[in-house]
Amino acid sequence: MEFSIRSLAPQKAKAGCLVLGVHVAELGKAGRQADKAAQGALRRVLAQGDLAAKAGATLLLQRLPGLAAERVLLVGLGERKEFGLGALRDALRGAAQALREIGARDAAFYVADLAPPGLGLPAVLRHAVLGIRDVFYRFDQLKTQKKAPPPALATLTLALASGPVTLQAQAALKEAAATADGVDLARTLGNLPPNICSPAYLAEEARKLARQFSLGLQVLERKDMEKLGMGSLLSVAQGSRQPPKLVVLRYRGGPAKQRPLVLVGKGITFDTGGISLKPGAEMDEMKFDMSGAGSVLGALRALAGMRAPVNVVGIVAACENMPDGQATRPGDIVTTMSGQTVEILNTDAEGRLILCDALTYSARFDPAAVVDIATLTGACVIALGHVASGLFANDERLSDQIRAAGEEAWDRVWPMPVWEDYQEQLRSNFADMANIGGRPGGSITAACFLARFTPKLRWAHLDIAGTAWKSGREKGSTGRPVPLLVRLALRLASGRTGKA
Ligand code: BES
Ligand code: MN
Ligand code: ZN
Repeated sequence: MEFSIRSLAPQKAKAGCLVLGVHVAELGKAGRQADKAAQGALRRVLAQGDLAAKAGATLLLQRLPGLAAERVLLVGLGERKEFGLGALRDALRGAAQALREIGARDAAFYVADLAPPGLGLPAVLRHAVLGIRDVFYRFDQLKTQKKAPPPALATLTLALASGPVTLQAQAALKEAAATADGVDLARTLGNLPPNICSPAYLAEEARKLARQFSLGLQVLERKDMEKLGMGSLLSVAQGSRQPPKLVVLRYRGGPAKQRPLVLVGKGITFDTGGISLKPGAEMDEMKFDMSGAGSVLGALRALAGMRAPVNVVGIVAACENMPDGQATRPGDIVTTMSGQTVEILNTDAEGRLILCDALTYSARFDPAAVVDIATLTGACVIALGHVASGLFANDERLSDQIRAAGEEAWDRVWPMPVWEDYQEQLRSNFADMANIGGRPGGSITAACFLARFTPKLRWAHLDIAGTAWKSGREKGSTGRPVPLLVRLALRLASGRTGKA
């Protein structure tokens, strides 16, 4: 779908559909203009109470007199005094769903009336593009039958009833379209089945990005990892026929002297649990265990696509966690790249085992900050559900920046402690540490494990186990936290603080 911004009087817009926001029975500026041209037709409809009060409700009207557009889609914004970013997102999704169902080929969406207090037009444009692209995303390349027909809507004008289209607005549109491309990539990588999306496939995908956007690329193979002493990562990979890959993608958009943001993604392309085998129910969802890696590739695609003035290194640690005659046993002790030893008491706690070596490796890029992204623990889903990702950090300023980026992107996170007090749960009688800390605070002890490998780095960890995908009827990857990562990279490069 093509997006553009134009300044255009609503009554004159010759679109298949006009989209107008309505606070409980109260038209916005564009709506009032259209209503005047239609001699009060919109107000009469609203007076009948056919548009439900909640944000995201929609009502489709056909061929109103005085309007050039064929249809008008009214979209509810809820109560004006309750209107915020959450309601805006609901309204955008509602409108997008309605636009997907109707036959209009083009639409003019009057976005300026949708700005909640304190939110500028550029931010509304970003949310509009991301929300609409999210609803129009499809993954049906592996279906041969009963495919839904492609949506008719081909062009969408983000319209302003008055005033000029600013350079800032144009930049926001470009940024959002590139971010949506990154989200799409992350979603598709997540949705692909594990017999297609293998570690080699992720490396090939990185190669494609490197070619398309002239990024630096390095793919470390098993023998390279052996030389580096990545005994922990290799111990996870050894039970699989699929060779592990450690992918390093570099985007240099900022000044040469600017230290990079390093993003490290967990790329377990399938997690059976290994010898500590998982139960069968819903095990298929462990194809999404590479979502952290997918989000790193998605964020790089987004930042490179918008030519963001930032330096970012993406590291993808990719392998498969399988049971096998060669697989790691519970009780095995491995030596990590850092030199610390780990007693593997549960082979299903494999994410931290690959991330610890990738984090040690990340130090060579002299990072301004390192953020790892991982579907790390079921415990995080218990703690925060499917709304917020877990945020763990050893640096308060970085933590604040990430929180703020998450709020801005409506891709929210919530801080959790990484206190020393939890470390003792990782005690081992036979090695420097165990790879599990028992049931209490499971997502925290997982973060505490990682913290032992980042003492000299400004580091944060995002546990996206509850947010990277949806289960049930809507099963599929969400592409989170690509929107957050993009905002974070832009914020860090522009030097804003978390409180700003
Ligand atoms: N990939 C899983 C975490 C996970 C589980 C994410 C369910 C989303 C839904 C991870 O590798 C894992 O298996 N973690 C274990 C850790 C435990 C053995 C300490 C878990 O959460 O059960
Ligand atoms: Mn696991
Ligand atoms: Zn896992």
